[in-house]
Amino acid sequence: MVKEATLNGVQWVVPDPKRENWYWPSEALKVHAWASDAKIYAQAAADPIAFWSQQADQLTWSKQWTKAYEDEPFAYRWFVGGKLNLSYNSLDRHVAAGKGGKTALIWEPEPVDEPSRIFTYQELLAEVSRFANALKALGVRKGDRVGIYLPMIPEAVIAMQAVVRIGAVHTVVFSAFSPESLRDRLLDCGAKVLITADGYYRRGKKIPLKQQADQALTGTSVEKVVVVRRAGNEIPMQKGRDVWYHESVAGQSTHFPPEEMDAEDLSFILYTSGTTGKPKGVMHTTGGYAVQVYATSKLDFNLHEDDIHFCTADVGWITGHSYINYGPLMNGVATLVYEGTPDAPDFGRMWQIIAKHKVTVYYTAPTAIRMHVKWGEEWPAKHDLSSLRVLGTVGEPINEEAWHWYFEHIGGKRCPIIDTWWQTETGATCVQALPGIGPFIPTVAGRPFPGIRAKIVDAGGVPVKTGDGGYLVMEPPFPPALLRGLYGDSEKFRATYFGEFGPRLYFTKDGARMDEMGNIRITGRVDDVMNVAGHRLATAEVEDALAQHPLVTEVAVVSKPDEVKGEVPVAFVLLKKGVHPSEDLKKDLIKTVDQHIGPTARPAAIYFTEDVPKTRSGKIMRRILKALVRNEPIGDLTTLRNPECVEDLQKAVGYKA
Ligand code: PRX
Repeated sequence: MVKEATLNGVQWVVPDPKRENWYWPSEALKVHAWASDAKIYAQAAADPIAFWSQQADQLTWSKQWTKAYEDEPFAYRWFVGGKLNLSYNSLDRHVAAGKGGKTALIWEPEPVDEPSRIFTYQELLAEVSRFANALKALGVRKGDRVGIYLPMIPEAVIAMQAVVRIGAVHTVVFSAFSPESLRDRLLDCGAKVLITADGYYRRGKKIPLKQQADQALTGTSVEKVVVVRRAGNEIPMQKGRDVWYHESVAGQSTHFPPEEMDAEDLSFILYTSGTTGKPKGVMHTTGGYAVQVYATSKLDFNLHEDDIHFCTADVGWITGHSYINYGPLMNGVATLVYEGTPDAPDFGRMWQIIAKHKVTVYYTAPTAIRMHVKWGEEWPAKHDLSSLRVLGTVGEPINEEAWHWYFEHIGGKRCPIIDTWWQTETGATCVQALPGIGPFIPTVAGRPFPGIRAKIVDAGGVPVKTGDGGYLVMEPPFPPALLRGLYGDSEKFRATYFGEFGPRLYFTKDGARMDEMGNIRITGRVDDVMNVAGHRLATAEVEDALAQHPLVTEVAVVSKPDEVKGEVPVAFVLLKKGVHPSEDLKKDLIKTVDQHIGPTARPAAIYFTEDVPKTRSGKIMRRILKALVRNEPIGDLTTLRNPECVEDLQKAVGYKA
């Protein structure tokens, strides 16, 4: 094994001598990597259950499982009978192994003049235990749902850890979501407690959060609200309901015995967009989730003890759950949490943070990289990025230009780019190239992770020929971290994921193609789900929000490609009789979207129109609207009830095809 101290600036990849744009791990990387032999794929494929059991053996179980995997239609279980606790595996076991003094969490506040906060494993365990005791005193018990509406501060990780330590179920809601979005989620899961903050910093300004939370609480089952003091802004506290975080933990013991959880016990619910206006509560278990998150963190990013892992996602998304919190901590490495935006105080902030903390793994979204491309390579050039070993991407297909920029200007043509494909539903990465194995190819995610059976099928569920496009599906044994259901809606769970191809094929809703080596290129969603700046959003959600405006009668939303954000929503709006379209009305509609969902869902363009294309049965033909905004061929109009409206729409959007 290569000595950690000598790793800065090492050449981790080499170009393929024959194939342009292909890269392979260098000998140095192969020596340093957990997995460096492609045989791992064949071995795991021969017995996936044995492969996952070997991974599970690396965690600490308070009771050994009796059966590693079993399934029946629509139900699959891993590590049956096994008992463990996620927080124990993230914290206690490292302390027990004598590593309590190692750095666990590095927090970088947005204001540059404010010091970083650093927690060792021992300190993080103590703080998590104190807060678990505080939550218990507030009445939180095993199985209770706890909402978390926090900015990117250490308490976000502490709160999640404390909740799972008790055996309660967290539901984290992205802090930029509107009060209404928060309320919907709290109502749906019946949350008993909400953890929030007074505010946080964004581009030097204090952004209030508690007021938003207050608006969301009316009519919910939330009994207690814990408020972290972060921004020091004036906020109302409701007597009997609201408590300050620092007061709640004062005097609490730094010991809290972790609840022994069944492998199949629910660990958290995370809401994500489906094709309807209502987000779905994706349910994750404890054992299978822990195992796949642990193993993928370790192998995807080649995590070793001295690594400093910086994932730029928000804790409100699955990426933050798995690769800021549980994955790095279960691996005993340091995880870096950054409060702010990449442009505060200047466009070099991320690179300054990497240099300051000697970050070794940097994991971000293609949309963020495209933003950096626009800002220019002079920003990373100002900072020493030689500590980096592995670069990762997630959330959407990465385009060639962004890949090369990332590879050259951030990785110094030294570091592999691990393009990880996965979903809120899969809980952990499923398709990627492994650092010590490769190959690393722009726009190609890689092979299914060892032990995962994925294939590309046609509409009838039949595998397509190598290289042909089709639908990405997964076969049993299903990945350990795959969702076990949608909260309160088992019918929807079956229909959404197993409706197309039956209970033996999980449908990802992504299009893809596979080469002869098994490398998968993801082509994008095949349902009405958009990917806006890395945020998953249903066109139906934006439609529902706009339709709530009192002057709107009907609305259709489609997505359009965008150079930086990947995709953006575009809205066609029909107004009530006598209402005149205006710029002010557009602004008002944007406000409506902010209010019902949040600014991430704002349409990039709003077209006021007299009509939208419809079938004879009255269904809006979004396919045609999509072609119009993308300047693609419109296709057959004969099935339309109102083909005449298409001409007007062409003029409105400036259609050129
Ligand atoms: O379309 C795929 C895309 O993001 C979707 C999942 O979104 P979400 O649940 O929000 O999770 C994002 C973070 C895991 C997928 O169905 N997607 C995710 N990763 C990639 C991707 N598309 C292409 N390449 C990826 N690496």
